[in-house]
Amino acid sequence: MNLRPDNLTAAVTAVPVKPRGDWAIVRRLLRDYLGGKWGLLAFGIGCMVVSAAMNGALAGIINPAIKRIFILKHSADLIRIPLEIMGVIVVRAAASFGEQSITNTIAERISADVQRDMFRSQIRLDIGGLNAVHSSEMISKFLYDTTLLRNAITRGLLGMGREVLTLIAMLVVMVWQNWELTIISLLLLPPVAWITDKIGRSLRKSSTRGMEETGTLSKTLTEALTGRRIVKAYNLEDHVTEIAEGRIAKRLRYLLKAVRTRSAAVPATDMIGGIAAAITVAIAGYLGIHGHLAINQFAAFVAAMLLAQQPVRNLSQLQTVSTEGLAAANRIFGVIDAKPDIFDRPNAKPLAVARGSAVRFDRVSFRYNSEAPGLDNVSLEVLPGQKIALVGPSGAGKTTLFNLLLRFHDIDGGSITIGGQDIRDVTLLSLRDHIALVTQEPILFDESIAENIAQGRRNATRQEIIESAKAAAADDFITAQADGYDSQVGEGGLRLSGGQRQRIAIARAMLRNAPILLLDEATSALDTESERHVQEALSHLMEGRTTIVIAHRLSTVLDADRIYVMDRGRIVESGTHSELMLRNGLYARLHHRGLDEREPG
Ligand SMILES: Nc1ncnc2c1ncn2[C@@H]1O[C@H](COP(=O)(O)OP(=O)(O)O)[C@@H](O)[C@H]1O
Ligand SMILES: [Mg+2]
Repeated sequence: MNLRPDNLTAAVTAVPVKPRGDWAIVRRLLRDYLGGKWGLLAFGIGCMVVSAAMNGALAGIINPAIKRIFILKHSADLIRIPLEIMGVIVVRAAASFGEQSITNTIAERISADVQRDMFRSQIRLDIGGLNAVHSSEMISKFLYDTTLLRNAITRGLLGMGREVLTLIAMLVVMVWQNWELTIISLLLLPPVAWITDKIGRSLRKSSTRGMEETGTLSKTLTEALTGRRIVKAYNLEDHVTEIAEGRIAKRLRYLLKAVRTRSAAVPATDMIGGIAAAITVAIAGYLGIHGHLAINQFAAFVAAMLLAQQPVRNLSQLQTVSTEGLAAANRIFGVIDAKPDIFDRPNAKPLAVARGSAVRFDRVSFRYNSEAPGLDNVSLEVLPGQKIALVGPSGAGKTTLFNLLLRFHDIDGGSITIGGQDIRDVTLLSLRDHIALVTQEPILFDESIAENIAQGRRNATRQEIIESAKAAAADDFITAQADGYDSQVGEGGLRLSGGQRQRIAIARAMLRNAPILLLDEATSALDTESERHVQEALSHLMEGRTTIVIAHRLSTVLDADRIYVMDRGRIVESGTHSELMLRNGLYARLHHRGLDEREPG
């Protein structure tokens, strides 16, 4: 995949990111994320002003110090002036503590708020939107972009304020000593700005590439780790190491380029600053020799000018940090603004379903954004409490039919109704509340067994959880675990066998107690022994529910009220087992080979 920044962002958000002006981004950050923090911010800025003023005072104090102590030789000032210096330093330390802790607090809070909003928006996208992005790329954006934003706030926006204030304080001191000299020394600003801009551009380019490579690298790591069993079994360690090394090296190249550029920034500004200082000293010396500038003025002026170089130098770096941060904020807003394509219609009502209402597909057509057929003119009906079976070769569109009933995608033509209500006219929440799905690969979260079951219905009591597990023939092995229902299942449920995982998934569906049940080849990944247990669990689950089962074993289809045979997105045959055997069509052929075999070609 081409990972140019624009494509990357587009992929992550599933909608193109609007280019926004820097000010539009800053305004939105202020509006959405600084609300409630104004008091804190005002206090932080107050600290900055005090700290900058104290810096100015330190430079300025050199003038009276030289004049009173060295020229006028007032011995009383020998105590007073050092005490003043001490006082200024203490105040500056307090202000600087306030400023640092406040700016960082604000930045961390904003970054956490942004992460919360990103997650909320991302998880509410429809499946199509979520599928459009590699999960680990999303994760690295989630962490990396928010870090860039946080840095931009601490070092960029707020840091900029601090440096500008310090610079102003130094200029005040310089003007106070001699304004003509101040103007001369200001002539060095244009070349500094020019160099800063050049370096900033180059840095932005290499750090954007660095961030893209960070995304690619985390994708590589996730894939190597999730595929660890295959990596081991096929001796792919060297292969994946080679890929990872390549990506690490590529990322390093961009990062080193950024390091070189960044390292050049300070010496380059220093050189200009140094030249300017030399010229100013020469001119100031000339004025001094001709009696236009006193030694105390000269000393305070040069001190302020040298102290002003630090803020200038920092400002030259801040620009890059804030540009990076603003670009990151723009990508973040793209993620936050992404809207699902599937949502409730304005007047959507909750689905009204008596237990086991009829499910109807009426001439349904659907296409994924690809060549694949999806579904083509599919009609089928399940009456309340009935069980129908879908069979057909792999890729026929069986799972797609489930995806459409759950409204993971919206159909292109025809209609799907439950109890006579079009599923697009009811709320998504109520639609999915009335359906329990058991997938081919059970999906467990790295939580306790009880918590995994409770995902079926969040407010279930412990007793209900245990009853569901019993009905799913899972109670025996659960209580045999070290921590029983509180045992952690490990990443993806890896500490349990396939059959145990599936029975937990069935207990979850049992707890949901939904009138409509969708079983997607729930036993296909299991050995015969586990299958026997799971089958028992499933027959409890199906009692009294309208069930559609994607079947690959004969035993599942034999007692179905009707069997629909699918091929290439269409329903090609339907009937009972014996009717279909008599037809001697696809079903009979599939049956002779065993339903779970693949159709050749
Ligand atoms: N998310 C998706 N995006 C694009 N094409 C898909 C997607 N899911 C499935 N398909 C395609 O749709 C067809 C039907 O897939 P599916 O319903 O999963 O088949 P079955 O469950 O019958 O094996 C296949 O050709 C598959 O490649
Ligand atoms: Mg399938």
